[in-house]
Amino acid sequence: MSASRVLAGVLASVALVGACSGEDGTGGNAPIAPSLDQELTELLAAEGVKPVEKPAAQDPGLVKLGQLLFFEKELSGRRNIACSTCHHPLLGSADGQSQSRGQGATGLGPQRVHGPKSLFLARNTLSIWNRGVKGWDTMFWDGRLAGNPTDGYISPAGDATPQEFSNALAAFFIIPITPGEEMRGFQGELDVNGNPNEIGDLTDADFAQIWPLVVARAMAIPEYRDALLAAFPGTTEADINVVHLAEAVGAFMTDAFTALDTPFDRYLAGNHGALSDAQKRGAMLFYGRANCGSCHSGSLQTDFGFHNIAAPQVGTGKGEEAPLDYGRGRITLKEEDRFKFRTPSLRNTELEGPWMHNGAYAHLEDAVRHHLDPEAFLKAYNDKQVEPELWGTYQNSEETRKTLLASLDPMLKVEGAPLTDAEVADLMAFLSALTDPASLNQLYLIPDSVPSGLPVDD
Ligand code: HEC
Ligand code: HEC
Repeated sequence: MSASRVLAGVLASVALVGACSGEDGTGGNAPIAPSLDQELTELLAAEGVKPVEKPAAQDPGLVKLGQLLFFEKELSGRRNIACSTCHHPLLGSADGQSQSRGQGATGLGPQRVHGPKSLFLARNTLSIWNRGVKGWDTMFWDGRLAGNPTDGYISPAGDATPQEFSNALAAFFIIPITPGEEMRGFQGELDVNGNPNEIGDLTDADFAQIWPLVVARAMAIPEYRDALLAAFPGTTEADINVVHLAEAVGAFMTDAFTALDTPFDRYLAGNHGALSDAQKRGAMLFYGRANCGSCHSGSLQTDFGFHNIAAPQVGTGKGEEAPLDYGRGRITLKEEDRFKFRTPSLRNTELEGPWMHNGAYAHLEDAVRHHLDPEAFLKAYNDKQVEPELWGTYQNSEETRKTLLASLDPMLKVEGAPLTDAEVADLMAFLSALTDPASLNQLYLIPDSVPSGLPVDD
């Protein structure tokens, strides 16, 4: 071996030793740049981004029952709409509309069309991915249902809210079955078979009267009655109430829509090959310089808090303030909470457009770029991207823009230079790492039929 070959070999091993000792910070002569993985691992640790604890396995009998109830139109006043109509397994557990067309409309997702009396729901349908994860205690864009077994539950039903739920996800069931435009139907309207709708005679506020009527619908079908009694040993027919149905639907949603096997989860579990370099750079920006992680914090990308990012005020709006939507401000009645909405989790976000509380953006990249310059996006916003019936509803006055921007959340800031297009592309790559491949095709979740015999295809 020549002397120079030997020297080269020695130098190489010195470099190797340097790299190893540099990693644990114990020395090495020259500083060696940390690898992207090293930087990202440190950033994630500093930001408290850890592997997510999967929910406990659900009781298979309860899951099966919950699945049928989730697809069951018998639970709606006019027997024309089910949870699955708006939270469809093939539509990212939502419905692909900017705002959902409620009971009385027909068809599924973007093909859904209004009937003579159907209305839009006031907000974009939330996806239901990972809502069974422990700690997910706050529901709705404005947080109006919340709780856990220790602290109890609050909901729009006020004092009538039952308290026996396993989690907020199960508790949720008590709400969509009650509004006239959503599932209950209105007074005097017949059901799809021409029979009276006994639930439609009540009003939205009659929660405690509506629930037993919905339970009675299920209990009148022997298959549900038997499955409910079997799923809750020790109960009699008279004991079965809305909480039992809710627990079943909650168990199904947890079982079916937990989506925690994404490239990002694999990375968090230590597989550094699970993310591409672009995704890693995107994660560095997300939890670092672009400051997304200050609101979209932790492993589920939400602080469960409420923020105003000045999303375009488009669509129906909500309540007395319509066509505006005060969001969290409607619940707390505080002026400083106006236009705040719960930070959405970004898990599977690619699959559940349109985006924002009212589905203002039809393209995910626009929803992201909006954060980087809300004022410019408000000025340039084109409402042709929402449902055609809602064209022309964009509140474009300078006054509205000013009001929205006046209370813009200060955490909406990028440190240093504005993001380049290449950096935005990296952010988008990171968002794609939050998609669980298993969620891409959930056709298997749709039952062939439900006990009422009503259709399951929309
Ligand atoms: C007509 C469409 C429609 C139907 C039917 C419907 N939902 Fe929803 N769902 C929505 C919309 C819209 C929202 C968001 C409303 C808001 O935040 O104001 C939502 C929100 C939710 C959420 C909250 C998720 C979160 O992150 O806070 C859950 C859970 C849910 N629905 C479950 C159900 C269940 C269970 C049923 C059946 C009993 C059901 N939905 C029926 C449209 C619908
Ligand atoms: C000040 C808190 C805050 C910061 C910082 C923030 N977001 Fe958001 N983000 C929100 C809120 C709140 C919404 C929902 C607003 C609405 O619907 O009116 C949202 C919506 C979104 C949506 C649409 C999700 C959906 O389901 O509709 C995406 C995507 C998103 N943010 C990505 C990002 C990215 C990427 C960054 C960093 C560049 C970021 N956000 C920074 C609070 C924040």
